[in-house]
Amino acid sequence: MQVRYLDADPLTHETPLLAVAVPRGTVEPAGFLGRVDEHLGGAVTRVLAGGDLRGKMEERIVLYGPEGGPERFLLIGSGEPEKMDAEVVRRLLGRTVRVAEELHLDRIAAWLDAAGTVDEGLLGQAAAEGAALAAWSFRELKTVGEDGPPTLVERLDLFGEGDGEAIERGVEVGAVLAEAENLARTLQARPGNVATPSHLAAEAERVGAEAGFEVTVFDEARMGEEGMNAILTVSSGSDEDARLIIMRYTGGREGDPPLVLVGKGLTFDAGGISLKPPSGMEEMKFDMSGGAAVIAALKAVAELGLRANVVGLVPSSENLPSGSAVKPGDVIHTLAGKTVEVVNTDAEGRLILADALAYGSRLKPAAMVDCATLTGAVIVGLGHHASGVMGTDDAVVDELRAAGERSGERCWPLPLWREYREQLESETADVKNVGGRPAGTITAASFLSEFVGDTPWAHLDVAGTAFGGEAKLSYQRKGGHGVPTRLLVEWIRSRAERR
Ligand code: BES
Ligand code: MN
Ligand code: ZN
Repeated sequence: MQVRYLDADPLTHETPLLAVAVPRGTVEPAGFLGRVDEHLGGAVTRVLAGGDLRGKMEERIVLYGPEGGPERFLLIGSGEPEKMDAEVVRRLLGRTVRVAEELHLDRIAAWLDAAGTVDEGLLGQAAAEGAALAAWSFRELKTVGEDGPPTLVERLDLFGEGDGEAIERGVEVGAVLAEAENLARTLQARPGNVATPSHLAAEAERVGAEAGFEVTVFDEARMGEEGMNAILTVSSGSDEDARLIIMRYTGGREGDPPLVLVGKGLTFDAGGISLKPPSGMEEMKFDMSGGAAVIAALKAVAELGLRANVVGLVPSSENLPSGSAVKPGDVIHTLAGKTVEVVNTDAEGRLILADALAYGSRLKPAAMVDCATLTGAVIVGLGHHASGVMGTDDAVVDELRAAGERSGERCWPLPLWREYREQLESETADVKNVGGRPAGTITAASFLSEFVGDTPWAHLDVAGTAFGGEAKLSYQRKGGHGVPTRLLVEWIRSRAERR
């Protein structure tokens, strides 16, 4: 989708649809809405008086305009004025795109007004994000049927009052972030037989060449030389070869310690010998969501030219049962030197992450953050509205929480107290890979913490947020959401701007 800001009067702009927000409690249309009312001969006042539109969030009505100017006006409820924020703007623009799809319109326009509660840069950014995220769809594996392809919104013209240059810069940032998150969604949507570990590696190489970061890929032979036996063990039941994707972006000063992002790139999780039940297993193609977000985050960081050195690591493998698969009770020697008893082969994400985190900590990062669809338990705890965040460094956890609020990809902390570590005690090895039912999300994080050394580190469990059976937000669809791409980029942005 193309998004641009126009410093012009939208009432003389030719567009099939112009969206204008109507806050809750509006009786007499004021400001730009007042001008629209006049332009429509008092129709807005009559709609409000008739009670057809009360300004409830995403409530809507479409009115036709007179000849010249916008063909249609979408009056869209924006809820309580005091609750106006960047996320409201994303959802309003997302809803505008959905309305346009229903009306088969491929171009739209919107008037931006947050009544001063959101600064202009963020307003433009959130608008571009909401619209461009909503406009994404995954069509590459559908043939064109009798009705032809559905209409997708391809262009958005934004108008608004205030500092036009700030809005324009925000729009550019938002477009980059949305395109990156949409890349993550596309990688997520590709099924396991397409998005294999080597496919993810090739995609990272392609994106790196386009956006401007360096990509190195370790194959199984190289991982064997390095001693990355945890990744190789998870991959041992699969005919597809595992990969470790290493991405390096150098936007900071030479020698500055990097920020390291690690993403779980499990391209299909059948559970291995500890086989998952069949129902819903197809969703386990999304088990590479963390890896997709890290590739996408590097794309955005490079395109925005952020002043930071960033390394992205994506350990990628399948987890399948076979005669060569790892068995419950097997013990592996990890890259960090620690031995792990594999009690449940379905707790494979933490194994591939163990080697990637150990590799990452050798880079002596300023901070390291991993993201992974790691536990079903985080969905029990937090549902689909927040990722779980835990770490060895409270400052990094707090930074992620703040970045979550700003990006709308929120995360919420769980305690990583050492008492939980006792659940991982093994009879035969240094540690076992599962800690039983209680606090499954925390014991998974506790396991990961064994492999980060003294690196300031935090972990995001995105099992409940990276994808979903239903689209709950106007700018998402059923399937992969690309989360936490924008959260990761916002975190790096907050660290990069600090110096
Ligand atoms: N990939 C799954 C976690 C998952 C579950 C992600 C549901 C998204 C939705 C992970 O590899 C897994 O199987 N975890 C197990 C751990 C258990 C064996 C300790 C789980 O959560 O059941
Ligand atoms: Mn699993
Ligand atoms: Zn998994």
